Amino acid sequence: MKIYKVLLVLMFSCAGLSAEQKQSVTTCGSCHQKQALTQPDTQMGRAMQLPEQNETLKAYPKLTFHRGAYSYLVETREGTTQYIVSDGTASISIPVLWSMGAQAQTWVLEHGGHMYESMVSYYPLTRGLDVTVGDDGLAPKTLEEAIGRPIDGEGVTTCFGCHATNAVIDHKLNLTAFKPGVGCEHCHIGANAHFANAMKGDFSNSPPSLGNLSSEDISNFCGQCHRSWELVVRAGWRGPANVRFQPYRLANSKCFDGADPRISCIACHDPHKRVSREAAYYDQKCLACHSEAASMAPPHAKVCPVAKSNCSSCHMPKVPFPGGHFVFTDHDIRIVKPGEPYPN
Ligand code: HEC
Ligand code: HEC
Ligand code: HEC
Ligand code: HEC
Ligand code: HEC
Ligand code: HEC
Ligand code: HEC
Repeated sequence: MKIYKVLLVLMFSCAGLSAEQKQSVTTCGSCHQKQALTQPDTQMGRAMQLPEQNETLKAYPKLTFHRGAYSYLVETREGTTQYIVSDGTASISIPVLWSMGAQAQTWVLEHGGHMYESMVSYYPLTRGLDVTVGDDGLAPKTLEEAIGRPIDGEGVTTCFGCHATNAVIDHKLNLTAFKPGVGCEHCHIGANAHFANAMKGDFSNSPPSLGNLSSEDISNFCGQCHRSWELVVRAGWRGPANVRFQPYRLANSKCFDGADPRISCIACHDPHKRVSREAAYYDQKCLACHSEAASMAPPHAKVCPVAKSNCSSCHMPKVPFPGGHFVFTDHDIRIVKPGEPYPN
């Protein structure tokens, strides 16, 4: 009875929340309000957008781009978007249903029974279209090839697997009842069964606590999508493009200790909240090891001879991602020497 009262109160206090926040607050949030209020509005929560949520396409209803013999038009009218490729004589028009990316956007398109990753993407830095990251080398010879990179099979299941929730069941794409973005159940396996029981007052099958994982296990957990150290090493991904793989970069830093929770991803980031862009926010995280008081206990991390605050601004440099559309924060925490080559 009590729970239904909580639910009712929450439903009435939902005015002003987005549809996703409302849904989250009235399900898990009736008991876990702290996480449910903020998580849907994080980059991860918004890693994929359906047409009705896509504020970017509404704000930029006519995006154009030319590349070689082909021109691109991404046009939004009355809530529906078309991705139109033409070569001057013929054109192909495909409805945009699936937008991946919370800020930059790449579209997953279905045409002639095949799935494609769009050749062009929207970038907030230029507020316009440009070639999709990684597609610079593609030289399309037909209109079909100009749509984008074919991603039939694993290409599309992994794409939805990382950017949506419950879209992949038994390694197969299932687009009947998925949720766009990384939702609660993606990280908390078994949460739906727990929810159903919890509503009946049975809390016996709550999902395993992730807060108790070691920093190494958390790196691998986040690395399912952000790519693990092992995957990057095995794939041989070298050079500045690997700056986006934080679990790999962090493991290369002298600060990393797989058993020390002070250097775990969740020591610095609450996955239910928007990432903090203030360098000062992270100071306490560094000082948990690098201060006189902390250095009493092993590991004996040294104290900075140069500054007492904004640690990450010097020791976690921003690295422009090849292609120039993004900047990532290097998680290989270190003394940065001017002019040194990018450490792999
Ligand atoms: C009716 C209240 C209720 C609802 C609804 C509910 N939970 Fe819970 N949840 C609990 C309680 C109580 C616990 C602690 C149970 C225990 O101590 O074992 C818990 C535990 C958890 C834990 C483990 C926390 C930890 O680290 O130990 C997670 C994760 C979790 N819930 C996620 C969810 C998600 C996701 C949803 C929605 C799909 C949800 N819960 C819906 C009451 C609820
Ligand atoms: C199911 C896949 C998945 C898992 C698991 C996952 N992430 Fe993410 N994460 C993403 C995706 C996809 C994005 C990109 C969202 C976007 O910009 O479109 C992202 C973005 C982020 C961002 C925000 C980046 C920004 O530019 O603001 C942070 C911080 C983050 N993740 C941290 C974590 C941490 C910490 C963990 C582990 C506790 C984790 N993620 C686990 C998929 C995942
Ligand atoms: C293994 C998991 C994974 C797969 C597969 C994946 N992504 Fe992502 N994607 C991420 C993560 C994590 C981020 C967050 C940025 C970061 O830290 O690298 C991201 C970011 C993005 C962004 C934001 C811009 C950027 O590049 O940072 C776009 C757009 C995007 N992905 C599109 C796609 C599309 C389209 C596909 C499939 C065709 C895809 N992704 C496949 C995990 C994945
Ligand atoms: C990207 C992965 C990710 C997503 C998405 C996610 N969580 Fe979590 N959650 C974690 C991790 C990691 C922890 C352990 C660290 C912590 O407590 O923040 C956690 C902890 C929790 C806890 C235990 C908190 C405590 O204080 O013990 C609850 C409850 C919870 N999550 C609920 C939710 C709900 C509800 C949602 C959806 C609105 C959600 N989570 C979405 C990764 C995630
Ligand atoms: C010691 C603190 C610390 C740890 C540990 C840490 N991060 Fe970060 N992370 C940061 C800082 C600082 C930023 C940059 C914030 C800003 O924009 O100024 C950041 C940014 C990010 C971003 C946004 C994209 C970018 O490059 O700016 C993602 C995604 C992310 N971290 C994921 C992770 C993951 C996954 C882990 C675990 C492998 C992790 N972080 C561990 C401090 C940390
Ligand atoms: C888990 C504890 C821990 C945390 C948290 C931590 N470090 Fe470290 N760090 C160490 C240890 C141990 C070393 C190796 C001994 C030393 O040089 O102090 C180290 C080394 C360093 C070095 C010297 C690296 C070199 O190339 O010689 C710098 C700079 C540094 N850390 C900065 C930071 C900053 C900035 C943060 C926060 C963003 C941070 N650390 C977070 C434990 C930690
Ligand atoms: C203005 C840039 C800057 C800021 C901000 C900064 N550092 Fe440093 N730090 C440096 C430089 C440069 C060195 C190398 C000094 C040298 O080798 O003489 C250094 C050295 C270090 C070392 C290695 C010390 C040793 O004896 O080997 C650690 C550890 C460290 N910093 C941690 C931190 C922490 C923690 C913070 C925040 C409280 C911080 N730094 C803030 C620039 C900075």
